[in-house]
Amino acid sequence: MFGSIIRNPPALISACIFDLDGVIVDTARYHYLAWGRLAKELNIPFNEQDNERLKGVSRMKSLDILLSLDDRQASSGEKERLATLKNQWFVEYIGKMDRSEIFPGVDRLLMELKSNGIRVALASSSKNAPQVGGILGIAGAFEVTIDGGMVKHAKPDPEIFLLAAERLHVPPEDCVVVEDAAAGVDAAHAAGMKCIGVGSAQLLSAAEMVVAATGDISLPSLSRL
Ligand code: BG6
Ligand code: MG
Repeated sequence: MFGSIIRNPPALISACIFDLDGVIVDTARYHYLAWGRLAKELNIPFNEQDNERLKGVSRMKSLDILLSLDDRQASSGEKERLATLKNQWFVEYIGKMDRSEIFPGVDRLLMELKSNGIRVALASSSKNAPQVGGILGIAGAFEVTIDGGMVKHAKPDPEIFLLAAERLHVPPEDCVVVEDAAAGVDAAHAAGMKCIGVGSAQLLSAAEMVVAATGDISLPSLSRL
């Protein structure tokens, strides 16, 4: 008689917390375009690799990183002016967006999660997240939304994910985060959550799993984490 095969039960996940820019919608490229435009104005060499360091972090931290690429110093008043300029360009770009810029498979994934009792939240470092949600009509798709204006400390600090879990009434260890930024993966881990990276396996190697696109995430893959 053969013994029965005993498998470990799949890990239970109660909630999935999504980053916005670069995970739900293609807005990461608008941040890149706007920072690139500012870098050009300032004559600071800036490429896609430099931009990886700006992903997920706050507007002012991003500006500090950009200035540091060429050892520049600026007064706080000048930094305010530069950050405002970058934001004006970003807002101009997203004003022309439509629903076609939501990544393929996002609607399907959100529906699959919800119909299996998994709660969904949005946690973005961007202060423009409510505006992006409004333009794309996706605000109602998430039970909880936390944006950059609601936290003191941006990613890689865990505050934003811990607040999302608290608002969902779900323990952090039962949440999985979906992120395209290394700072976001670090924030998820600091919150005691597992993380699925979206993008380059090399850049997001700290994540428990990396997929090329958000639409590649499936329910079975979540329970294998
Ligand atoms: C994050 C982006 O979601 O939000 C960063 O990945 C961006 O690139 C940050 O700098 C802050 O965004 P905002 O819209 O508040 O300037
Ligand atoms: Mg992002």
